[in-house]
Amino acid sequence: MDAPELIRKKRDGFDLTRGEIFSFIEGFTRGEIPDYQASALLMAIFFRGMDRRETADLTEAMLRSGRVLDFSALPQAKVDKHSTGGVGDKTSLIIAPAAAAAGVLVPMISGRGLGHTGGTLDKLEAIPGFSPRLSFQDFHRVLGKCGLAFGAATEEFAPADRKIYALRDVTATVESIPLITASIMSKKLAEGIDGLVLDVKTGTGAFMQKVENARALASSLVSTGIAHGKRVHALITDMTQPLGNAVGNALEVIESVETLKGRGPRDLSDLCRELTAHMLLLGRVTDSLDDARSKYDSVIAGGRAFERFSNVVAEQGGNPRSLEDYSLLPQARHEDAVVAPKDGFISGLEARAMGVASMILGAGRERSDAIIDPAVGLVFEKKIGDEVQAGERVCVVYSNDSSRLAQALDMIRGAITISAEPVSPPPLVLERVLDTQDQ
Ligand code: URA
Repeated sequence: MDAPELIRKKRDGFDLTRGEIFSFIEGFTRGEIPDYQASALLMAIFFRGMDRRETADLTEAMLRSGRVLDFSALPQAKVDKHSTGGVGDKTSLIIAPAAAAAGVLVPMISGRGLGHTGGTLDKLEAIPGFSPRLSFQDFHRVLGKCGLAFGAATEEFAPADRKIYALRDVTATVESIPLITASIMSKKLAEGIDGLVLDVKTGTGAFMQKVENARALASSLVSTGIAHGKRVHALITDMTQPLGNAVGNALEVIESVETLKGRGPRDLSDLCRELTAHMLLLGRVTDSLDDARSKYDSVIAGGRAFERFSNVVAEQGGNPRSLEDYSLLPQARHEDAVVAPKDGFISGLEARAMGVASMILGAGRERSDAIIDPAVGLVFEKKIGDEVQAGERVCVVYSNDSSRLAQALDMIRGAITISAEPVSPPPLVLERVLDTQDQ
């Protein structure tokens, strides 16, 4: 392959062929194309973009760089959900068992948190004994037995993405729709799924802060999934404030369990209901969104979603008693309150700053090799739209390391805004981007 010619072609705005894209990905993954040429091509893609065919080919080339799971021995539809990341986003812990209890299989492979956003694996690992490190045989067995399994994204899946992402991170080429699409979809398609629901977040705590960028990403993700023969829906959802009340790993486990028991906060429960309903549609459990929502309500009310979660936790080495007795989960030593400085209505709980505050306390990672503290975090007692009196608690801060507390408290105080006038809570689901067969 003539790498300079390929870079020149994209630099000048021409489309790359499928063969060129595959040669580039294969050559780079094998170490035959140096980083400086790969960086130049990534920057050319950043500026010139890629059309849908090129994006689908790039996704496939990256997918084929590693292992693709095969669950065809299990008859039910395999459907997963992916979120582009946010603060307090613990939906995976709720919707995977709910969707499984309602009849689809959920082979969920997740990552860890970085920066202000949390990661599903970190939350699950707050459960004493829980391990996402399963062999393929064990993953298959747990999936067959419980209807869901939680695995870790390892080097085996789309290794090309790992190498390319590391380069994008240091060459200012992360924010490119085709590159993000290929990165996300290559890893998700490696799970051997039939359908995928994408939760594309927008707002200050999201990767795509502006709704028009979230829409463009959602549309690119959906069309790439369809090009690979999958059924894909995307929901564009709010991330201007944390989702639910809890931010921090063990705290989010408790809130997830409460939601599975039908006692979760309104926004989190509503979003889980919508995401699960779309998973059931894609898995052809039903063909109506209203019926799918009723199925979610029934697996929650009947305790079957919680039972699935408890079963999967036990199968993966976790202590299911900790889902009943929360004192068995990691506990923080200190509790401090952030109170409202004046009367009014909460008009902002800036999500990114809340995520950073939680990371400062130790719930998240500034660098990918940092060690996290599963016990610490925040619990909001007020959300946008709620009325407050001066001195009333807005947020409770759970900490273990007093040297980090003052900085986190300052950050939280600066991220709360109060208006004298009543405020409406932001809409939770802003838009839906559906597979055209389902429109
Ligand atoms: N998440 C990913 O997995 N990849 C990207 O490129 C961006 C967000």
